[in-house]
Amino acid sequence: MFDGIDHLGIAVAELDGAVADYGERFGMPLVHREVLAEQGVEVALLEIGHEHVELVAPLSADTTVGRFLAARGPGLHHVAYRVADIDATLAELARRDVELIDARARTGARASRVAFIHPRATGGVLTEIVESAA
Ligand code: CO
Repeated sequence: MFDGIDHLGIAVAELDGAVADYGERFGMPLVHREVLAEQGVEVALLEIGHEHVELVAPLSADTTVGRFLAARGPGLHHVAYRVADIDATLAELARRDVELIDARARTGARASRVAFIHPRATGGVLTEIVESAA
């Protein structure tokens, strides 16, 4: 069902400093940065092998990630798996009674299509599935 790990999402309060820290301390280059207004975040993708770390900063306190930071502070926010066909995967997850946050895919970074699975279905880990743009 899942083809591999696409990225790890890390919530940060402030993106510029986090991008600089990851670049300078860990040698992970910034490959993409984008505001996802619909999700209330700005994301920065850092390259690590064939996968990415996605630094996620809230656009305001009144967003999902803003509330996450207020409640828990910065840290691991979600794990994202790569899928070939997100519509088919969502249909199969629903057939298996997996609790979804998103019944339908929405637009993610770099014109990908993404959806979130509820942490109640995944051992407490917010889980994203990603179908890359062609
Ligand atoms: Co993500």
